[in-house]
Amino acid sequence: MLLSELPYPTIFGHRGASAYAPENTLAAFQLALRQNADAIELDAKLTSDGQVIVIHDQTVDRTTAHTGRVRDLPLSEFRKMDGGSHFDLAFKGEPVPTLDDVFQAVGQLTYINIELTNYASIWDALPEKVAELVNQHQLSQRVLFSSFNPVALQRIRRLVPDAPIGLLAIKGASGAWARSMLSRVLPYNSLHPEKSDVTPSLVQNAHKRGQKVFVYTVNRQEDMIQLFQMGVDGIFTDDPVLARQVVQSMDH
Ligand code: G3P
Repeated sequence: MLLSELPYPTIFGHRGASAYAPENTLAAFQLALRQNADAIELDAKLTSDGQVIVIHDQTVDRTTAHTGRVRDLPLSEFRKMDGGSHFDLAFKGEPVPTLDDVFQAVGQLTYINIELTNYASIWDALPEKVAELVNQHQLSQRVLFSSFNPVALQRIRRLVPDAPIGLLAIKGASGAWARSMLSRVLPYNSLHPEKSDVTPSLVQNAHKRGQKVFVYTVNRQEDMIQLFQMGVDGIFTDDPVLARQVVQSMDH
C-alpha cells in the first residue's frame, strides 16, 4: 500500500490504540488494527547498543517501572521491562517492543508511520538502523517516516528512496517555518501539524504543493469533525473507535 493508496481520511492509531492499551506496545498496535485503524504510528529511537526500540519518551521512567535514559540502556535491559502495568495491570508483562518485533507482528498487516525520535541525539545512527530493518522486511511500500528533525528525514530519504517522508511541525509559532518554508529545502510528502495550527489555508497550501496533511493528536469528536470538514487527509488519534464512528457518520 502506497501513501497515495491510503483511505481518505486516514485514521492512524497514535502509538497504537493508546486510549485502550499501553502506548507503543504490540497489544496497542494489534488492537488498533482490530478497531479498524487504517494505519499505526509509533516512536523509534536507539538503545545504547544500537538496536531500534519503540518508545516515546527520552527516558523509560513514565512507561516502565525502571528509570534512565533510553539511549543509555542496552536492549537486554529493555527485555526485562514491563511496558504495560503503567497503563493498567491487565497489561502486566507487556514488553517494550523493538521495531523488528513490530514488523514481525504487524508489518504485513497495516501501514506504519515511524516517527524518528532521536531528538536528544540528532546525529545518531537511527536513520541507518531503521532503514536496514525496513529493507530487511521489505516494507518500504508500507511505511511513512516522520520527524520533527529534518536532518533525520533527509538521511532516511537517501537510504529508503521509495518511502515517503512527513515533517512534524511543532505547535504554535515555533512550527511556522516547518509548516511553510521548509518544504522548499526539504520537499516532504506530508505535513504533520498540531491540530490547533490547522486552518483551511494551511490545508489548501499543502495540497497545492502536492502534500498530504496528517494532524496530531486528535481525540475529541468535535475536533475530528472540524478537521475533516477542512479537508485534512488524516489524523493521529489514541481512539480509532471514535474516529471510525466520526468518519462513518460524516459519510451518511
Ligand atoms: O506523530 C504524531 C505525534 O505523535 C507527534 O507528537 O509527541 O506524540 O510524538 P508526539
